Amino acid sequence: MAYETGDEFTKSVLKRWQDIPDPRLRQVMQSAIKHLHAFTSEVQPTGAEWFKAIQFLTAIGHKCDEKRQEFILASDVFGVSMLIDDINNRRVAGATPSTVEGPFHIPDAPEIANGADMAKGAPGIPCFVTGTVRGLNGEPVGGAVLDLWQTDGEGLYEEQRRTTEPWMRGVYHSQPDGSYSVRTVAPISYTIPMDGPIGALMGRTDMSHMRPAHIHFAISAPGYHGVVTHLFRKGDEWIEKDVVYGVKAPLVVEFVKKPPGKAPNGETIDTPFYEVKYDFILEQAQAALAAAE
Ligand code: BEZ
Ligand code: FE
Repeated sequence: MAYETGDEFTKSVLKRWQDIPDPRLRQVMQSAIKHLHAFTSEVQPTGAEWFKAIQFLTAIGHKCDEKRQEFILASDVFGVSMLIDDINNRRVAGATPSTVEGPFHIPDAPEIANGADMAKGAPGIPCFVTGTVRGLNGEPVGGAVLDLWQTDGEGLYEEQRRTTEPWMRGVYHSQPDGSYSVRTVAPISYTIPMDGPIGALMGRTDMSHMRPAHIHFAISAPGYHGVVTHLFRKGDEWIEKDVVYGVKAPLVVEFVKKPPGKAPNGETIDTPFYEVKYDFILEQAQAALAAAE
């Protein structure tokens, strides 16, 4: 048997890992081995450092349970989640862009009537989000599902509150003219979970571990590509330094502070509140376009 080192050794390993009938798995493994070998050759880890890397990956696995996903957090802070989003959700110009889903979405949120309150007494400044869901040609999209989730005014999601009832999430529907009307409380900027191995790693950097204030939306409508996105609060101090790279300029919106008085849903509010206006633009799905031709 030949005694190989360096590039010759990598070539031998790659040759052995060609014996995979599934072409996609073969492609993935060839690329993984090529890049892992290049990384290892460049970094030249000591045995102790390599063992530390293995302990780090093990700790990430141990931190995961049915509510906590430390691997997703790793993918988020390394920018891989946004890369995956870009590869899979490239929409035409003019359509509302997607961004990272994050780990806090809980399925089967309660249905909330148009204009009704999804905060239900949660702490925070009242906030009214209104606008329309439209197609690229300006046509109203009625019956779209708007699944929202966000932090309360103290920066906490349902999973962190550990409530028995749903907290700061709800499903709205657009009206026949495409309009929607949400009552909530304003989210605030918050830190990603720092009590695990990803937090420990971030703590050894000078990077911010903050996300700017935002409301999550997952919007779907028959005949259109759905979009999973956020609305970010303009002026938030962390907008330029989002720890998960999720901010896109068209998603940054003004939260306009209003004095007590009549709110967009017709209610009279006796404290100051925020008004946010945003039109979501969906791209028609190919199948729907083909059927229309
Ligand atoms: C979030 O927006 O909820 C989130 C996204 C990525 C990491 C942590 C939180
Ligand atoms: Fe979030």
